[in-house]
Amino acid sequence: MPSISSPVSVELFPHDSVKENCFDLLKTPKPAKAVQNQGKVYLVGAGTGDPELLTIKAYKAILKADVICYDNLVSDEILAINPTAKKIYVGKKCAKHSMSQQDINSLLVKLAKQGKIVIRLKSGDPFIFGRGGEEMQTVIGAGVACESIAGITTALAVANSVNIPLTHRDYAQSVKFVTGFLKADTPNEQYAELLADNQTVVFYMGLNTLPNLTQGLLQAGKSADTPFAIIANVSRPNEQVLVATLSTIQALQNDAKLPSPAVMIMGEVVSLYNELNASRQYYQQLVV
Ligand SMILES: C[S@@+](CC[C@H](N)C(=O)[O-])C[C@H]1O[C@@H](n2cnc3c(N)ncnc32)[C@H](O)[C@@H]1O
Repeated sequence: MPSISSPVSVELFPHDSVKENCFDLLKTPKPAKAVQNQGKVYLVGAGTGDPELLTIKAYKAILKADVICYDNLVSDEILAINPTAKKIYVGKKCAKHSMSQQDINSLLVKLAKQGKIVIRLKSGDPFIFGRGGEEMQTVIGAGVACESIAGITTALAVANSVNIPLTHRDYAQSVKFVTGFLKADTPNEQYAELLADNQTVVFYMGLNTLPNLTQGLLQAGKSADTPFAIIANVSRPNEQVLVATLSTIQALQNDAKLPSPAVMIMGEVVSLYNELNASRQYYQQLVV
């Protein structure tokens, strides 16, 4: 990479605004110097549970692991891919952390410095509500090599599993992935950003805040008729789907009590659910 002051870099970054950004980059602290003979940390996306939804790259990384530090939502089938690797559970269930984020970060660094190939296995994709960025910052900052391997994030797995396309030229020209909770464990109440029509919103980690969420959105002006779905245990044998509208979903959920993990999809694309699934069942009968 040429230095920022070389003539080549001026050619590469001809615009003043870009040049300014490059100077910002120069201020970024350099990672500690990597040491030889130490291991490496791979942040690996395990998808939503179905082993067939793993990427081949993730599968290969799991096979070469010495240690796998895994989260709560990683399925047993995926953990079984490498029976000899040591497994360390570092997840969080029902707001109960088995280990603090700081301790997880230290563990990853410690194991890699012992020369181990460490797989940090996370549900979905490491960089979507997965703290992958924070963990990579720490690992690299400690001078340990770190690589992230993409996984199928829940929003994409659910769209294909239940036939709710996230975009459709007639209904949605953009998609938002939104977390139900902020870093301080407070609910995300930025409703104003979710009011636009012609967009799909996928809520992660929001099932427990459903009453607040639906009320907040209605009060902020979102139409009561907006199609709304809850999908639990995406891509697993116990997957469940509840389809309603913004104003009726809470009453249905009171009866159905879909469990976590679940995502929620809001937007006109949800109205395609019945049509697309009716035809799926019809053709499944015809295909031998
Ligand atoms: C900490 S976030 C992790 C998201 C993950 N990194 C991803 O890309 O999908 C956990 C949330 O992901 C969603 N989730 C993960 N796996 C799921 C599954 N199999 N079914 C439904 N929701 C799931 C739920 O909203 C859950 O509360």
